[in-house]
Amino acid sequence: MAQGDGRLHGKVALITGGAGGQGRAEAILFAQEGAAVVLTDVDVKGGEEAAAAVRAAGGKAIFLRHDVCDPKAWQDCADAAVSQFGGLHVLINNAGTISRHGIKTIPLSSWNKTLEVNLTGVMLGMQVCAPAMRDAGGGSIINVSSIAGMSAHYDAAYCASKWAVRGLTKTAAIDLVDWGIRANSIHPGQIIETSFFRDGAPGHTESARRSIPMQRQGTPQECAYLALFLASDESSFITGAEIAIDGGFTAGAAIWMRSRMRDELAKAEAQG
Ligand SMILES: NC(=O)c1ccc[n+]([C@@H]2O[C@H](COP(=O)([O-])OP(=O)(O)OC[C@H]3O[C@@H](n4cnc5c(N)ncnc54)[C@H](O)[C@@H]3O)[C@@H](O)[C@H]2O)c1
Repeated sequence: MAQGDGRLHGKVALITGGAGGQGRAEAILFAQEGAAVVLTDVDVKGGEEAAAAVRAAGGKAIFLRHDVCDPKAWQDCADAAVSQFGGLHVLINNAGTISRHGIKTIPLSSWNKTLEVNLTGVMLGMQVCAPAMRDAGGGSIINVSSIAGMSAHYDAAYCASKWAVRGLTKTAAIDLVDWGIRANSIHPGQIIETSFFRDGAPGHTESARRSIPMQRQGTPQECAYLALFLASDESSFITGAEIAIDGGFTAGAAIWMRSRMRDELAKAEAQG
């Protein structure tokens, strides 16, 4: 790994939900770009493997078991970043969960758990890590919301939590600006290629793919490159922004599908 001239040279990043998917891709890319990485997750096996993969490629990484709902564990992670790597500059609140219930069926326990992980976990992360980021001279927070934080979603708690993260991020941008900390939210599309959506309803992936103007799934690596830009000093005047990474879905999937239907109807009429 060539770290000396990397885009994150000299920075320390804490990434939650780093055992797989987007978090792991971010850890690998960030280390390639010169950052030291603290990976955290409740999945110990996956997290240890991800950190080992970064180290095997010549990067700096440690893994810590960490439930984002636990304030004490958050403090341990922030302290580890400072004691092991000398500071903390980047926080990616990436860990997330989904309940797969609509309003008609969701048990209160599922509602509360989803909000606790996806929303309270993000708030705790910012609250606990911000002082260390201030002490390091400022930094960048990237909160992973979803396009479910920009439109409706069948999962009531997931949708509510991701909309809330979008608003909370704007509050953080204002609240933390005097500490030199930027905060932005990213909004991945519905079927990024990770384990997150795989246990959805039959046909979910294919029907979702057909509704995306680019007609394909996004990859964890594509999400990692967006996070890299927001983590780096290249985005130094960007705070409080929300960026969709969804193949054009939120730009206007409905109008795009309508024009496709119109073309198909015209073709069918022309064929008699
Ligand atoms: N994959 C998609 O299609 C998609 C779409 C939009 C948004 N997202 C969001 O992207 C983020 C990353 O998900 P992913 O796609 O990489 O899937 P993923 O399942 O690979 O990653 C989620 C990680 O969060 C961890 N996690 C869950 N609960 C936790 C807790 N309480 N404390 C600590 N870690 C916990 C899991 O163990 C897992 O490693 C999530 O916030 C998710 O909501 C994903």
